[in-house]
Amino acid sequence: MLRPGDAAPGPLVFRRALAQDVPRVMEIEKDGFRHPWSRELIERELDHAWSQLLLACEEGPGGEERVLGYIVFWLVHDEVHVLNVATALEARRRGIGRALMAAAEDAGRGRGARISTLEVRRSNEPAIALYRAIGYRQVGVRPNYYAEENEDAIVMVKQL
Ligand SMILES: CC(C)(COP(=O)(O)OP(=O)(O)OC[C@H]1O[C@@H](n2cnc3c(N)ncnc32)[C@H](O)[C@@H]1OP(=O)(O)O)[C@@H](O)C(=O)NCCC(=O)NCCS
Repeated sequence: MLRPGDAAPGPLVFRRALAQDVPRVMEIEKDGFRHPWSRELIERELDHAWSQLLLACEEGPGGEERVLGYIVFWLVHDEVHVLNVATALEARRRGIGRALMAAAEDAGRGRGARISTLEVRRSNEPAIALYRAIGYRQVGVRPNYYAEENEDAIVMVKQL
C-alpha cells in the first residue's frame, strides 16, 4: 500500500492493462469517483478492439512496479474519445494525469486521429483545469448527462 510522499518521482512507463491489473484499476477508481466503474465495465474495455486502457507505472525502491494511474480511451475513425482518466490519490499533482492524456493523444496521432474529445462533470474542477492546461476547449454542454446527480457534462475538444 502506498502512502503520500512514498513515491519518489521516477520515470513513468506506460503499458496496456491486462486482466490481472483490474483490481488495482478498481482501487484507483474507487478513490477517484463517487460512482466508480464496476469490474465488469473495466473488463469490457479490455475486450473492445477500439478501446485502450493504458497504465502509468513507475518502479518502486525494491524494483517492484507501482501502477499510479490509468486512462481509458477509444480510437474511432479520426477521433480519440477519452472515457476515463484517474491518478492514485497519493500520486496526484506529479504530472501523471497530464502524461496519461499525452500518451492517449500520441497513440491516436499514430493511428491518424485528428481530434480528441471528452465529457467532464461541470463540478470537476481539477479535471477541467487539467484539460484546459493541455489545450482542450469547451465546445458544448450535455444537460443532465449525469442523471443521478442532475449534473451537466461539459464537452471538450482538442485538435491533435
Ligand atoms: C483529474 C486528475 C486525473 C488529475 O491528475 P493529476 O495526475 O493529479 O494531474 P497532473 O499532476 O498531471 O496535473 C496537470 C495540471 O492539471 C491541473 N490540475 C490538476 N489537478 C488540479 C487541482 N486539484 N486543482 C487545480 N488544477 C489542477 C493543473 O494545471 C496541473 O498542472 P500543475 O500541477 O503544474 O499546476 C486527478 O485529480 C484525478 O484522478 N481525479 C479523480 C478522477 C477524475 O475526476 N478524473 C477525471 C474524469 S473526467
